[in-house]
Amino acid sequence: MKPEKSLPCTATPSQDGPDSQPATMELRSGAPCEWPVTRREFVKGAGVAMGAAVLAPTLAGQQKPERQARKVALSLTINGDKKQMEVDPRTSLLDLLREDLKMTGTKKGCDHGQCGACTVLANGRRINSCLALALAHEGDEITTIEGLAQGGDLHPMQQAFLDCDGFQCGYCTPGQIVSAVGLLDEAKGGAPSMVTANLTQTGPIELTDAEIRERMSGNLCRCGAYVGIVAAVRQGSTASPAHTSLAFAQNGDADAAL
Ligand code: FES
Ligand code: FES
Repeated sequence: MKPEKSLPCTATPSQDGPDSQPATMELRSGAPCEWPVTRREFVKGAGVAMGAAVLAPTLAGQQKPERQARKVALSLTINGDKKQMEVDPRTSLLDLLREDLKMTGTKKGCDHGQCGACTVLANGRRINSCLALALAHEGDEITTIEGLAQGGDLHPMQQAFLDCDGFQCGYCTPGQIVSAVGLLDEAKGGAPSMVTANLTQTGPIELTDAEIRERMSGNLCRCGAYVGIVAAVRQGSTASPAHTSLAFAQNGDADAAL
């Protein structure tokens, strides 16, 4: 019979003790054989090999310092302020705002484009700043939650979130508010959503509760303050258009942006 390839033989401890003598092996065929190392020698050898494997990357790391990326010039307008800076080309827009510019109003939730906590407006459009490379927005106008209030007056959407209890812990709230401001301009420009019944209509789309829920579905609230959030967006959408369309008012080009 052909011997099996795996487990070709079984070990039997020798009569003189399992650790001190070479183990006697017995092939499946019944023929005796002798293993050339003791179990103790084998365990010692394995320990040394594992230690070397663990230490090798550390030692290698000491010899090779981490490679620094070349910084690249970037120019952005953030909340109306022109900024010139040098950035690591791998920096996300969210990290640029929070870590480099210390503008911590924009929140990091998932860092994977799934929660909407990091929503900002880029040239008036809503984006997840955690998914955007800062360099990809060279020359763009970025609006964050810090840029919505004007001269000490809250933006109508901010006021609406306060009036309608549109939050609980508040962590998702900056993203919700910025998203809601972007939503108003999308609806005003006639951009349909998944629940828009008439896709052939032109002109502004009425913001029903179903439209608000659908259009805000990219912004998650772990506290579940959705009832208040929908009420807040509804109230904010009825405020004077001159106040709600902040980003487009800054650009002076609302129609082109849509
Ligand atoms: S932090 Fe950007 S989508 Fe969650
Ligand atoms: S208010 Fe807490 S996550 Fe939305």
